[in-house]
Amino acid sequence: MTGETNLQALLATLHPVLRDGEYVYVLWPHGRPLETGIQAAVREAEGLTVVLPREVADSQGLPYDFVAAWITLEVHSEMEAVGLTAAVGKALTDARISCNVLAGFHHDHLLVPVADAPRALEVLHELSAASPDHPRPELILRNETAADRAGILALAAEAFAISPVTGLAVEGEPAEVEVLRRLFECEEYLPDFSVVAELAGEVVGHVISTRAWVGDYGLLGLGPIGVTPRLQRHGIGAALMKDTIARANAAGEGGIALLGSTEYYPRFGFVPAASFGVLPPHEAWGEHFQLLPLALWPGGVHGTFRYAAPLAG
Ligand SMILES: CC(C)(COP(=O)(O)OP(=O)(O)OC[C@H]1O[C@@H](n2cnc3c(N)ncnc32)[C@H](O)[C@@H]1OP(=O)(O)O)[C@@H](O)C(=O)NCCC(=O)NCCS
Repeated sequence: MTGETNLQALLATLHPVLRDGEYVYVLWPHGRPLETGIQAAVREAEGLTVVLPREVADSQGLPYDFVAAWITLEVHSEMEAVGLTAAVGKALTDARISCNVLAGFHHDHLLVPVADAPRALEVLHELSAASPDHPRPELILRNETAADRAGILALAAEAFAISPVTGLAVEGEPAEVEVLRRLFECEEYLPDFSVVAELAGEVVGHVISTRAWVGDYGLLGLGPIGVTPRLQRHGIGAALMKDTIARANAAGEGGIALLGSTEYYPRFGFVPAASFGVLPPHEAWGEHFQLLPLALWPGGVHGTFRYAAPLAG
């Protein structure tokens, strides 16, 4: 993918969010213990500059000139996002809005004069909207091909670098990567149920469902599903889930089971599988083991669920 296309994809998901309050830059008095309200700091030979809420500066009696509104760009900023800050800076300059940029580990932050905040938000929304010159890249959902596999494994390594179960960083390769390698090769692999989401030529999401059983009744076992971290929470996961459900209905499947968040999957119609008499292979999975009965779900299917071999660990 070219830098320009990548930039267009990022601009489309800029997601500017205004923080509450007003912020000021002050020179922190030498030797004074640091204050928890500090939002950013830069040390220079001449002293320490800090950005903090106006009321904190007032309560500490610290002088300031510039009173700013704080806008966070919720798009995940990465080194590869060459040109993102430049594009944002140019759009604001063209609108005659001055702006200081702070780059955090996760996001970029813009400090603009308080009075200009509403206009700055408008400019940022315009920048991220599609236009004839800058069409919004379309999300394409399609079957995975053998050529996608390296990219899918790299995506899974990124998406599962933080464990969804513990919320902690995973040491080494996340287990889901090896599970996927094995799922691609196993007998229960179903080519029409390994779906990639592609944005401007880049694989940005993937979901796989493989053959699974309750007794001798065949249904789908969904997972893993992953979305590239910088584009999470922009609807790509939901698009993959809905596409899988549509494919499953079209293929005459009766149901989809998965192990996952009880906050995320119910929005697609999943319910605790036990309520349909489908029991998890491990009792401890409890309510996290969920089932979506499709139009053709037959009554009378009860028993313990069995995943494809690579997932049955
Ligand atoms: C889970 C995942 C696939 C969801 O995809 P996504 O593109 O980020 O999610 P979407 O944008 O479609 O989410 C839609 C909604 O679900 C919410 N959501 C997303 N992930 C969620 C989670 N893990 N728990 C609860 N809610 C979640 C979003 O906030 C959003 O809510 P909103 O519509 O009310 O704003 C993706 O975040 C991911 O790859 N996570 C890391 C790997 C992982 O956890 N995989 C699933 C293992 S069960």
